[in-house]
Amino acid sequence: MRVVRQISELNTIVSNCKSAGKSIGFVPTMGSLHEGHLSLLKQSVEICDISIVSIYVNPSQFNVSSDFLSYPRNEIEDISKLKDCGCDIVFIPEVDEIDFLGLPSAVKLGYLENVMEGSNRPGHFKGVIEVVYRLFSVVKPNKAFFGEKDFQQVMVVRKMVTDTNLNIEIVSCKIFREASGLAMSSRNVRLSDKGKIKAAKIHFVLKSSKFGSETVKSNELKRLGFEVEYLTKHNLGGFSRLFVAVWIEGVRLIDNIAID
Ligand code: PAJ
Repeated sequence: MRVVRQISELNTIVSNCKSAGKSIGFVPTMGSLHEGHLSLLKQSVEICDISIVSIYVNPSQFNVSSDFLSYPRNEIEDISKLKDCGCDIVFIPEVDEIDFLGLPSAVKLGYLENVMEGSNRPGHFKGVIEVVYRLFSVVKPNKAFFGEKDFQQVMVVRKMVTDTNLNIEIVSCKIFREASGLAMSSRNVRLSDKGKIKAAKIHFVLKSSKFGSETVKSNELKRLGFEVEYLTKHNLGGFSRLFVAVWIEGVRLIDNIAID
């Protein structure tokens, strides 16, 4: 596995792959990798000739600067995990290496920008699109893998790809969970053991028919000690899902499940 930090070096690797007719699978991440991230990589390794993972904690998608500063970083462990999972290239640019092209004007997010992660984290999706668009322009993948843990983000990236006519297939991958049901997240490392046990209740409450409506589910989470930012049904891109964002021990957690 090659560790690449310069765009110029990555450009050479990518053009060599293209001339050799090799397909490129791409998994963009912000590092602090867990099994959820690695499940995306494993799908890429299975169906693409070359798999590239990027690690870049993107400042422009954090609407609260303390969240950016406290975001966990574990480069050495990340590199070793990627090596073990068959990654070919890990791209770890410095912040000044990513010169933003800006938000492509063709991209119209519409309602995706006005609900949940769009309305509650102003500027978040603009930052995501800017960095993903820039990374796509250097990696030039055939397929890019995104997790349904961030379901709204998958829809936002798909819209960006459609609106800009990029020839990239966006593969959405199932949520990878701990045995307890807790959706894996880089932010989970900031929870205490007690907090983790409690956080496993989020998935339980979402799927339990004992707590019928959104209001009842939301009240149950409040009773358990969560601050509920939203708990709501939405149909995104033809998929009906129940979405939640909560706070516990100063950590913001999101999750979602499919509903009929
Ligand atoms: P990050 O939070 O590091 O997540 C990278 C990818 O891993 C995303 O597609 C996310 O949905 C996926 N992922 C995270 N936890 C997962 C889980 N438990 N199961 C399945 N997939 C999971 O999302 C970002 O980074 C950034 O916004 C990024 C796209 C890299 C742009 O900066």
